[in-house]
Amino acid sequence: MTDTRARRSATLGPYSPLFYDEPLEFVSASGLWLTDVRGERYLDAYNNVPNVGHTHPRVVEAIASQGARLNIHTRYLNDRVVEYAERLLDLFDPALDRVMFTNSGSESNDLALRIATQHSGARGILISDFSYHGHTQALAEITTGLRTFEGVGAHVRTIRVPDLDGADAGRDEAEVLASSLAEVDEAIASLQAAGFSVAAWLFDPVFSTEGLARLPAGYVGGVLQRVRAAGGLGIADEVQSGFGRTGSRFWGHQQHDIVPDLVTMGKPMGNGHPLGGVVLPAALLDEFGPRNMYFNTFGGNPVSSAVGLAVLDVLRDEDLVANSERTGRRVREEFARLAAEFPFLGPPRGAGLFAGFTVHDDDGRPDGARTKRVVEGVKARHVVLSRIGRHDEVLKVRPPLPFGTEESAILVEALRGALGDA
Ligand SMILES: Cc1ncc(COP(=O)(O)O)c(C=O)c1O
Repeated sequence: MTDTRARRSATLGPYSPLFYDEPLEFVSASGLWLTDVRGERYLDAYNNVPNVGHTHPRVVEAIASQGARLNIHTRYLNDRVVEYAERLLDLFDPALDRVMFTNSGSESNDLALRIATQHSGARGILISDFSYHGHTQALAEITTGLRTFEGVGAHVRTIRVPDLDGADAGRDEAEVLASSLAEVDEAIASLQAAGFSVAAWLFDPVFSTEGLARLPAGYVGGVLQRVRAAGGLGIADEVQSGFGRTGSRFWGHQQHDIVPDLVTMGKPMGNGHPLGGVVLPAALLDEFGPRNMYFNTFGGNPVSSAVGLAVLDVLRDEDLVANSERTGRRVREEFARLAAEFPFLGPPRGAGLFAGFTVHDDDGRPDGARTKRVVEGVKARHVVLSRIGRHDEVLKVRPPLPFGTEESAILVEALRGALGDA
């Protein structure tokens, strides 16, 4: 055990998870490359928080120059903050025309649920049966994708997200859609019968914790329509899928041709600087605002806003959303080739630069242990990635968006080697 690991355990406790059997200790990074404490370099095929690349000079400059000028809580006028709000809202459907800034994805989802609960006068929440949206009390009670002591609350109903390349493979797509939506109808009826009614459906547009499920066409729109008919709101959690991650479109929900009632953001928004937000229509804010004296000390302060602006500038100037689409397509083509070489792999999953495939055992069952061997084998070849899914059986590739041809080739060679050993 390294000294840092022992000291971490002695101070932070041993419960906060670390990746890998032998955790990595990074000391610096630039672009797509991380350097560890021994001076070894690793290609980053995993981290979406440094969305525009590690230590991007324009982001670093934004932190330094605004930090040197003014950083203060949010109850004074500041044009940086307003400029950022304007620039961000320009990226949304015109119906979504207000933003509230926060410091994390959890805080954003907690606030969105509060707004939806007050709007609907209901308490019931619909959630996928294998998902994660954050760590507050309210979110612990809707967590289904990892262990919480609270367990799922009485006001929560879980729905199984269909997966045409997973549990629903081989079934007729229209039939999968119909049975999945019937399950949603049942969940809504159950919330109504229990007196909770429906406040919100909170969903990740790429269904990442679920393992990047391939949905039947019309699923997200169908659930949203049912939730709205029951008086609830649809909250798109863009913490994973936002800011160009899914390629071609800036937001994950746009892939489903819907406009959600609320959008929540976090991780990539500040490229590592803690920044999150909730985007919503003016009508919802005008309902919530007068009822609650809400302010957020750090959320969207001048430095955070300068960072947020720099991230948007880089995404635009380096054409990173188009790169996410282009490189993502190439990565999936390579994954299809790997699947032809290694029969225990499923078809490529995901959109843009959120990609993966299922790893099976030799009898075709999802195999989390084998996926772990692949992840460790790739790490031994100096590339970092991870795994997701109900059985931790889906390889998770989600690099900073400047990931290009050269990096894809390195990733695929590392995977080929690791798959050969797995
Ligand atoms: C989809 C999703 N929503 C929300 C969160 C919580 O974000 P944070 O850790 O910034 O509170 C996460 C974190 O992994 C997430 O994946």
